[in-house]
Amino acid sequence: MYATRALSPSFGAEVLDFNPSALQSKEAIDAIRALWAEHKLLLFRNQDFDEATLVQLSKEFGALEIHVREEYLSREHPEILYVSNIEREGRRIGILADTEVGWHYDQIYLPKPAVGSLLMADILPPEGGNTEFADMCAAFDALPEATRVQLEGCLANQSYEAFNQAYSVPTNTKQKARSPDIQQPLVRTHPVTGKKALYLCPGMTTEIVGWDAGESAEMLAFLFDWTTQPEFVYSHEWQPGDALLWDNACTMHRRDPFDPQHDRLMKRTTILPPEALAVPF
Ligand SMILES: [Fe+2]
Repeated sequence: MYATRALSPSFGAEVLDFNPSALQSKEAIDAIRALWAEHKLLLFRNQDFDEATLVQLSKEFGALEIHVREEYLSREHPEILYVSNIEREGRRIGILADTEVGWHYDQIYLPKPAVGSLLMADILPPEGGNTEFADMCAAFDALPEATRVQLEGCLANQSYEAFNQAYSVPTNTKQKARSPDIQQPLVRTHPVTGKKALYLCPGMTTEIVGWDAGESAEMLAFLFDWTTQPEFVYSHEWQPGDALLWDNACTMHRRDPFDPQHDRLMKRTTILPPEALAVPF
């Protein structure tokens, strides 16, 4: 139904001639869902939808998570999280400012983690701020078989606190209580495709549960290097009007820094899995 153009040799596709109003048909929604599962990352170019449309479009793919960082939510549409370095009325309107943001899965720390995010460029700096994605199914498949067997069934500790210490600002007491450390499977099965993916990220994964501390650190260091090799990574250089929909069950991402003298505003929704597919994974 939609023509596509590959973004990299391994994953990601631009959906050509995409018009969000076409998603009023079930056939069109199913087609985008299928492409999302197949390519893991979809680019929609030359879009200018407003916040209401962003929310409406995102809801076609699942229920939306209201992010724990309420200070960075859109006032009119709390399903939208602002990622920005812009200050208005004496406060920063968005999360993550202008510095590098390390590799992470969005909200891997939730008991029922998000399976997707839709991120729309609103204001872009002239350069910098690329977002990189890593294909965690391909990274898992390419591991030596002995390592795959060793990792299956393991749990890892995921810490939003560790991410905030490295790349963001601290949460308040209430937010901390809503985002404690959590143990998740180190290898997860995708709810739609059934494919296995490494479910870990340098920004939030602190240890493999029950392993000797040294062995855990050594394995995680190996896996962080392994998963971020160029053959598993696509780097997206944003253009005005770009929106990216990614599969948050099998890709992680990071952001390059950009010149703080320029404004950047991105708007993100976070998509939850259908209840029946949420856990276990
Ligand atoms: Fe993110």
